Amino acid sequence: MKDINNYINSNKDRFINELIDLLKIPSISADKAYAKDVLEAAKAVKKSLDDAGCDNTEICETKGYPVVYGDKIIDPNLPTVLVYGHYDVQPPDPMGLWTSPPFEPVIKKTELHPDGAIFARGACDDKGQFFMHVKAVEYMIQNDELPCNVKFMIEGEEEVGSDSLEDFLMENSEKLKNDIILISDTGMIANDVPSITTGLRGLSYVEVEVTGANRDLHSGIYGGAAPNPINILAKMIAQLHDEDNHITIPGFYDKVQVIPDDERAEMAKAPFDLEAYKKSLDIGDVHGEKGYSTPERFGIRPTLDVNGIWGGYTGEGAKTVIASKAYAKISMRLVPDQDWHEITDLFTKYFESLAPKSAKVKVTPHHGGQAYVTPIDSDGYQAASKAMETTFGKTPVPQRTGGSIPIVALFENVFDSKTILLGFGLDSDAIHSPNEHFGVWNFLKGIETIPYFYKYYTEMKA
Ligand code: BES
Ligand code: MN
Ligand code: MN
Repeated sequence: MKDINNYINSNKDRFINELIDLLKIPSISADKAYAKDVLEAAKAVKKSLDDAGCDNTEICETKGYPVVYGDKIIDPNLPTVLVYGHYDVQPPDPMGLWTSPPFEPVIKKTELHPDGAIFARGACDDKGQFFMHVKAVEYMIQNDELPCNVKFMIEGEEEVGSDSLEDFLMENSEKLKNDIILISDTGMIANDVPSITTGLRGLSYVEVEVTGANRDLHSGIYGGAAPNPINILAKMIAQLHDEDNHITIPGFYDKVQVIPDDERAEMAKAPFDLEAYKKSLDIGDVHGEKGYSTPERFGIRPTLDVNGIWGGYTGEGAKTVIASKAYAKISMRLVPDQDWHEITDLFTKYFESLAPKSAKVKVTPHHGGQAYVTPIDSDGYQAASKAMETTFGKTPVPQRTGGSIPIVALFENVFDSKTILLGFGLDSDAIHSPNEHFGVWNFLKGIETIPYFYKYYTEMKA
């Protein structure tokens, strides 16, 4: 890997400009109005794989948005790394809170990114992160440093639940066959505290609808006598947690893996500054399940959160009305061995049981996925750890994270391969929020680190 740093130094402006061009495309998968842009992003990704020197690049149709494929097979007897990422992004709203437009990338310095960070929707989640792999592979191909085979699979529906991906994997399992899956779509603890994600939570996402009367009513004429679905919904939601913030759904915790005390003690060694956490969020105190630390609350415990709630009059001024309907979107983050289909059923039954006779309730499941935990004694983890140690000068800390990438559990079923979650973002990079950004230092550090993963992994497999 002799001249990786030279290569980065002499090409970094181009790398950043290429990423900026990709970030200008508003590939918002959740909003049909941007369908053309999502497809344009797929084309741009294909071109970037071509330019990097990949073979067999292809925009693969699915039932939904396409998957972009490309590979470089140097010897079928050598190991194969499958790189996964996603070129779709979250909607940018609320627009008013962005300090610069979400699809007009600019580089600005921040306290944690003194070398500058690229501000744009998708900068960190996930365009900036999968693009590190494209550039790292470009370096390896152009400099004869690619020690094994590589395949890319960059999808366009991750942010809306990867609906078409299961079928795509089944239909293309031969083509995508691999020994290890490498993903940069998570974060690390800090630029001077490298970490590797060893766990992702599962997810069950549902929408609920509570109906009272058959039409909106005058809140004076009917108020106090007719059911108010918003009041009822609020009360039903309030009953989903008890005093200690445990979730009250019967059976919800039945399959949760109990983590032994010695393992919890080991996890507690990962650096975490509670005061800095509170300060960064500007909150008086943290809030969560009794008996667990903050990192445990977001890392190893399941949760239930309302993500949105609406109904009635929310326009300017006041309107006296009792709405006919009230709605909420609810996510449950799950841990091994909770099954998301089973949890969705348990939620539905319990939520329906909470409804008074005066109201009707409808629960509609959206999407979900299983949790994932990866061991740290695998070749893949060890290679990733050694790679980070080489470029950061420190052994990375294994850390479970609260987010979800539902496809990862599926990968293990289909390919029997482990997934290595080698992320270079920071929690404070504001993914899914206004002013998402990705540190220029992090972007370049990722490009520098990834080739070492290939080197060490291939050596370990030899
Ligand atoms: N990249 C994130 C997941 C993530 C971020 C995991 C940071 C760990 C740390 C991914 O794009 C994402 O947002 N996933 C969704 C789930 C999906 C089904 C919409 C999530 O976690 O909400
Ligand atoms: Mn992502
Ligand atoms: Mn995301």
